[in-house]
Amino acid sequence: MSQKENDHQRLDALKAEIADHNYAYYVLDDPRVPDAEYDRLMRELEEIESRHPDWVTPDSPSQRVGGQAESAFREVRHRVPMLSLGNAFANDEVEDFGRRVSERLDTTATVRYAVEPKLDGLALNLRYESGHLKQAATRGDGVTGEDVTHNARTIKAIPLALRTDSPPTVLEVRGEVYMPKAGFEAFNARAREQGEKTFVNPRNAAAGSLRQLDPQLTARRPLAFFAYSLGEVDGWDPSSHTEMLDQLREWGIPVCPEARRVESIQGCLDYYADIGSRRDALAYEIDGVVYKVDSFRFREELGFVSKAPRWAVAHKFPAQEELTTLNNIEIQVGRTGALTPVARLEPVFVGGVTVTNATLHNEDEIRRLGLHIGDTVIVRRAGDVIPQIVGVVEDRRPDDAEAYTMPSRCPVCDSHVARLEDEAVSRCTGGLICRAQRKEAIKHFASRKAMDIEGLGDKLVDQLIEAGHVDKVSDIYRLDQDTIASLARMGEKSAENLVEAIDKTRKTSLHRLLFALGIPQVGETTARTLSTHFGSLQRLKDADQDALVEAPDIGPIVAAHIVEFFAEPHNVQIIDELVELGVTWEEAEPGGGNTSDALAGNTYVLTGTLSTMTRDEAKARLLALGAKVSGSVSAKTTAVVAGEKAGSKLTKAQNLDVEVMDEEALLALLEKHE
Ligand code: IVH
Repeated sequence: MSQKENDHQRLDALKAEIADHNYAYYVLDDPRVPDAEYDRLMRELEEIESRHPDWVTPDSPSQRVGGQAESAFREVRHRVPMLSLGNAFANDEVEDFGRRVSERLDTTATVRYAVEPKLDGLALNLRYESGHLKQAATRGDGVTGEDVTHNARTIKAIPLALRTDSPPTVLEVRGEVYMPKAGFEAFNARAREQGEKTFVNPRNAAAGSLRQLDPQLTARRPLAFFAYSLGEVDGWDPSSHTEMLDQLREWGIPVCPEARRVESIQGCLDYYADIGSRRDALAYEIDGVVYKVDSFRFREELGFVSKAPRWAVAHKFPAQEELTTLNNIEIQVGRTGALTPVARLEPVFVGGVTVTNATLHNEDEIRRLGLHIGDTVIVRRAGDVIPQIVGVVEDRRPDDAEAYTMPSRCPVCDSHVARLEDEAVSRCTGGLICRAQRKEAIKHFASRKAMDIEGLGDKLVDQLIEAGHVDKVSDIYRLDQDTIASLARMGEKSAENLVEAIDKTRKTSLHRLLFALGIPQVGETTARTLSTHFGSLQRLKDADQDALVEAPDIGPIVAAHIVEFFAEPHNVQIIDELVELGVTWEEAEPGGGNTSDALAGNTYVLTGTLSTMTRDEAKARLLALGAKVSGSVSAKTTAVVAGEKAGSKLTKAQNLDVEVMDEEALLALLEKHE
């Protein structure tokens, strides 16, 4: 066989294999190969096509995204009008529908119903001629729609050619283009991150995506398709909805896997209850279920009233979106000082509950939505998800509506509010005095790795705060035995022990104090680094952003948090109080002046990833003990400290018979000498 013949055969085989994978993925919902393998097949196909451009056919999988952006959509007149559905909201309306159907049909036979979810997307008519996708059009007003062929071709769930050798001459398939919930969430999350417009709901997302003039954009949206009816057909004559769906599926057109056939109206209602209970778990948004007389012969007998068939009805679920008024925006201060704006709403019944509040996440979200107090807003509560404001009806904005701005002072403690560059949250900087944060602040202050006040556990902190004895961390050093003994479940002896334990912690170290202060992002190891680098609290307080980032491992964000912390007079006040109450610590020269020589003469090599600290921190602590830290292993190395994923240095140590320590051994060594 010539190379050319070989290529041609391979191209055909690749097309068939890719079509099989698409079928398995979109129709059978049973992916056969990992994405990487699929991509490899696509690349091979494109490679052959680039060598033989004349072999490229319109239904090649490489031809989904092609052509130029359009300037407008052409009109398409539907050969068979695209109808709408009558609605039912309650069971008795469904029963009325069933009665009307039975009365009109002159039969004693059972009337079966095809039942399926009512997908919340956008209706689309796909026209296949001799098995090839020729046109895709939106519903429009039902008579005239828009030609969105270029965009529909980018949706991988829509086959470009039917999987059959004997397709009908003409086949118009109708169904819903939708955006799966996961894709919608991911899309909005990305848009939110980039400060771009988000979609109100998956339906708008699907509609907006399909109406892009540039198919490149549509191709990037995670859209999918389920078929549920027919338009013009020539060369095929199914006798029921069920038979139709089975055949479409076989031809490679996705059909909703939840579609069923039931024997009675009661069967319809059972289906409604079942799907309703599983609604949140479905991968796509639905707003009800549709019941359709299954037999096409019966359908013909029943006919239409105005624009809707007598043989079908949509049974809707309660709405998940409603309009209401934004009465106010209030700020909640969380345990960590984060300021969260909360929308206070005029109560509204949505998604099955009365909603009065909705979280607004942060300042950017308010700006992105363009909220004004007094606005009419769209509230959405889907499933168990907390209610959200997804949009504003600007036309209804009252003249006196005020734009909202975040407060510059904490509504709880009046400390200044800081919003760091690159961060979405605004924070109260008064962590040590803010009543919203004090419980956490005090518990943290007393904890083992901070001031290590033995016996002052979480429960006792709660009791002390509730009894009004402790309001801020400095108050701990004001406690006396009688006060403590007056608490419930507290004996004289325990009170005495606690007072002693508190007293013992008056003599502390700078790194413990720094960690205990609870400065955002300053963990135990960062506190150590700061302590070694600056040596004294005053020098740390005086350090500006530039001086801070010069310390090992201190990035701009940590540095900014430190600057904000000491800029808040409330915090400085607490430290002054601690000093007045007798808390002391040793200070040293900057740059690790307080080194000991406990490990003098020893050389260590650090390799791999440590879990409790960075290598720089380990290095700083070893240096502070007089050890040397080297970058390469030699016979003179005292020990190699090997963290996770240690590489060649570990091998070399083993070859040279140098001692190898794990992280635990290192910590033991450091703690012994520090
Ligand atoms: S059947 C003649 N089945 O609902 C009946 N419609 O209100 C044609 N829809 O425009 C429609 N899921 O966009 C049908 N399983 C389903 C559906 C469905 C969603 C939409 C469709 C249609 C609208 C009618």
